[in-house]
Parts: sequence; structure tokens; C-alpha cells
Amino acid sequence: MTNTSSAESVSIGQLMDLSGRTALVTGGAMGIGLGIVHCLHQAGANVVIADVNKEAAETAAAEFTDPDRVRTAVGDVSSPEDADAMVRTAVGAFGAVDLLVNNAGVYTISPFLEMSLDLARRTLEVNLPGVMACSQAAARQMIEQGRGGRIVTVSSIDSLTPSLEGMGHYGASKHGVAGLLKTMALELAPHGISVNSVAPGGIRTPGLGPLDDDVLADFETLVPMQRMGAPDEIGRAVLFLASGLASYMTGALVVVVDGGRTLRGAAV
Ligand SMILES: NC(=O)c1ccc[n+]([C@@H]2O[C@H](COP(=O)([O-])OP(=O)(O)OC[C@H]3O[C@@H](n4cnc5c(N)ncnc54)[C@H](O)[C@@H]3O)[C@@H](O)[C@H]2O)c1
Repeated sequence: MTNTSSAESVSIGQLMDLSGRTALVTGGAMGIGLGIVHCLHQAGANVVIADVNKEAAETAAAEFTDPDRVRTAVGDVSSPEDADAMVRTAVGAFGAVDLLVNNAGVYTISPFLEMSLDLARRTLEVNLPGVMACSQAAARQMIEQGRGGRIVTVSSIDSLTPSLEGMGHYGASKHGVAGLLKTMALELAPHGISVNSVAPGGIRTPGLGPLDDDVLADFETLVPMQRMGAPDEIGRAVLFLASGLASYMTGALVVVVDGGRTLRGAAV
């Protein structure tokens, strides 16, 4: 995870090795977040599954055969107090936070003309100030540790193209995240903290539960690779950005992992 230049002789295996590093993954209890937790754990990291759903977080943590490297932290990312507490949990358990993965996000569907401002505000609150609160808490801790760090945010291809109909509030939140991350990357680079983002396309997760199979099948016809993605396919991209392989990357906000979906242009 160190920002080692290519002049130094380090093997690819070492660059991928996150042993001794601690990752805090928000929304890590299920879906894409859990896929990320598994990838980072396999690479050797200590992982903190930070989620508002206590029961799901504990169920997810129980899946790991070596519980010494896994902890849970229950909290709402949109609360600065909870964000601080999640970071304190990681530091209490493992002594540090080296990587924050901002993954928690919500995406209830509502047509624009019927959308309540309360729903829009809650979506924005989790998806945008939530990223800000967790990033502030983690970055302050990383700066105190004095050895840099990584912040990887799970955005969406909806930060690049219009969202599906009924998801204007969600698209607004993800476009907003892109704006926030650009300046975060500028301000945190001198502290050795990189800020990058993965933009998933359609990934099969519990969050898509309300969408019926016909809607998902229609979506798949628009994907050049003709299928939805799996959570660990996002996990691998996050692992890359978290690892020494990405030592000279910051401000990369469009690491698109979508089976080619954006090649077909805006949502239809
Ligand atoms: N699934 C997709 O097709 C897709 C596509 C692009 C981007 N994304 C993004 O990926 C991320 C994860 O999506 P997913 O499909 O895995 O979702 P999901 O609903 O399956 O899982 C989300 C997890 O986040 C947790 N969470 C929700 N609100 C929270 C909060 N306020 N504080 C802490 N934890 C909270 C939930 O409890 C859950 O464990 C989101 O940011 C989403 O916008 C998903």
C-alpha cells in the first residue's frame, strides 16, 4: 500500500500485499461492500465492516474463518459522530486506519414528478455528506499516523451519465461525489493520502431486490458483456487502487467497471 516508486525493487506480490494494513469499509455488510471486504481480507488486510445494519454486519463477519482480522462497527455514515466512532473502532482494534472505502449508498427509485424532498435529502445525505464525514474522520486519523493512506469511493457510472428514470436524486448525489473527490484529492495529496473512485455499472446485490427480473434482463441487453457484474469484481478494482500497484494514482474518479455499459451512452 505504500507509495513506492518504480525505481525501487518490489515484487508484484509485495505490492498487492496488504498485510498489517487496516481497511474500513462502509456498507460492508452486504452487496458490493461485502465483496470489497472479502478481496481486501484475501490480500491480507485487517478489515472493519462498518454498517448501519448491525445484524447484517455481524452475520457477514461470522463468515470469516480467521476472526482476528475482522471487526464490525455499527453506525450511519451520514452522522459525523458515527463516522468518528467507526474510525475509533478500527484504531482500537488494529491500531490504525490505512484505507477507507466509502461504499455505503442508497438508491430508492422514485419518478421525478412524485419524488418527495425528504427522499431526495436522505439519498443525498447518505451518498454525499456520508462520504465527506467518513473521509474527514479517516483522513484526520491518517494524517495523525503520518504514513499516508488511501481513500477509495464507490461511485457509479451515474456520476458520468444520466441515471435511469426515477433515479435523478441518486444521479445528483453521485455527480456531487465526483466534485467532492476532485478537491479532496488535491487537498490530501500533500499528506500522502490518495483519493480515487470506482464507478460500477449494474452489479447484482441485495439493494437491487425491489427490481424485478424483467428490468434486470432489460439492463443486461444493454451491457456489451451481456451480464450484470458481481460484487467481487468491484472488490478487485478497489484492491488495485488500495494496493502498491496504484502508487502514482490520485484523482482517478472514473475507474469504470461496467462490462462496457457506458459505451452505449446515456441510460434509456
Ligand atoms: N448495485 C449496483 O448496481 C450499483 C451500481 C453502481 C453503484 N453502486 C453503489 O455501490 C454501493 C453499494 O451498493 P449495493 O448495491 O451493494 O447496495 P446494498 O443495498 O446491497 O448494500 C448497501 C449496504 O450499505 C449499508 N448502508 C446503507 N445506508 C447506510 C448508512 N447510512 N450508513 C452505513 N451503512 C449503510 C446497508 O446496510 C448495506 O449493508 C452504493 O454506493 C451504490 O450507490 C451500486
